[in-house]
Amino acid sequence: MTQRQLKLGFMMHGNGTGWGDWRHPRATPGASTDFAYYRRQAQVAEAAKFDFLFVADSVHITPKSSPHYLNRFEPLTILSALAAVTDHIGLVGTLTVSYAEPFNVARQFASLDHISGGRAGWNVVTSWLDGSARNYSREKHYDHATRYRLAAEHLDVVQGLWDSWEDDALTHDKATGRFFDPEKLHRLDHRGEFFQVEGPLNIARSPQGQPVIFQAGASEAGRDFAAARSDAIFVQFDRLAEAQSYYTDLKARVLGHGRDPEDVSVLPGARPVIGSTEAEAERKYQEFIALTSIEDALLIMARSFNEHDFSHYDLDAPFPDVARFAENSNRSTSDRIIRLAKEGGLTLRQTAQRFATPRTDFVGTPEQVADAIERWFLGRGADGFVYNNSLPDELSVFAETVVPILQERGLYRRDYLGTTFRETLGLAKPVNRYSHPLAAE
Ligand SMILES: Cc1cc2nc3c(=O)[nH]c(=O)nc-3n(C[C@H](O)[C@H](O)[C@H](O)COP(=O)(O)O)c2cc1C
Repeated sequence: MTQRQLKLGFMMHGNGTGWGDWRHPRATPGASTDFAYYRRQAQVAEAAKFDFLFVADSVHITPKSSPHYLNRFEPLTILSALAAVTDHIGLVGTLTVSYAEPFNVARQFASLDHISGGRAGWNVVTSWLDGSARNYSREKHYDHATRYRLAAEHLDVVQGLWDSWEDDALTHDKATGRFFDPEKLHRLDHRGEFFQVEGPLNIARSPQGQPVIFQAGASEAGRDFAAARSDAIFVQFDRLAEAQSYYTDLKARVLGHGRDPEDVSVLPGARPVIGSTEAEAERKYQEFIALTSIEDALLIMARSFNEHDFSHYDLDAPFPDVARFAENSNRSTSDRIIRLAKEGGLTLRQTAQRFATPRTDFVGTPEQVADAIERWFLGRGADGFVYNNSLPDELSVFAETVVPILQERGLYRRDYLGTTFRETLGLAKPVNRYSHPLAAE
């Protein structure tokens, strides 16, 4: 297949990303820890040939956190269970480098890759919530610049450990009694600023060799890290022009790192609202807006300002000067919110509402939603999307009405192209760093 193909991921969020989604008449309030619900959703996504399932994560809550954050599965655990009830779909889990030892991370994703027959992906995040530190015996969270230095070194160690065993190191020769070839087992002996790790890893090289790397930071440091190290980037833009400018910048950085820009997918999140008519789509969109009170909208926005308390500001005054609360937080999103308010001359109320319940291009009939997807894809604002909608039957509506149109137009493949997640994405399996290219000849 030579034509560039759209990529689709499905964000698994039992109770939705908002605060009020669980109150929708069709919502299942216990969905975030309901395995049967996750299994059904995963199987619908796989039947529609989605490239991957995506599980987001964070490691600190307060009573004001959203329902899904308050009570949800640990990503690697749920993905391992889903690996057993799916066959083709990629399994991408978020795990923070700030509070997980690289040796553990390398083991966990290598295990998931073995269990799933080569479908593991790691979304490398640094965490932005200050409170996370207090769950991991630290008083303060790392500052923004340190976090990205730490992320780079962490990933070096994890990827180094994944190469501990060459592909054919485990010989299992019963006749000679040789279980493995010692020449093909390698110690890492990493000594760096943050980590000292001897290795080797106690699990064989996994089917993909190196699980797929996702990244989701969009600040300057985040973009550089993504361009240098990731296979796919999860971003959030509500307008095509914004996405295009990010896309162009990111692909130039990928090229600057000596990599092929087509090997790094830019995947914005999208929450389509689909109706059989425009009027029905609009009614569903209004239903969704009605579930999000202004208090909820403020809380959704506050997450990118380190959970700053917006409740004591005048809702109808211009958006307040709160940039300083975001300095060590989720900068790409907080910058976007500040820009949105400034450019539109918005009040605090308007900013929060537009951010929490954006009116995007993806509201309409199946043809209109497919048109918008095509526009973003061919207009180089996206290489694909992370579909996000947590009402139980919405994924099926998208799968049954929009996906076939995309396939009809030749934008989306009709079946999986290989076995591993790398093959699905069209990415080569990396050669083990210790293997000599001529060794097999
Ligand atoms: C679309 C998107 C999704 C993200 N998902 C997560 C997540 O699930 N867990 C997490 O800890 N951070 C998540 N992040 C945060 C980033 O990984 C990063 O830590 C944060 O954006 C700060 O980095 P930045 O300033 O480079 O954007 C996400 C960010 C974006 C833009």
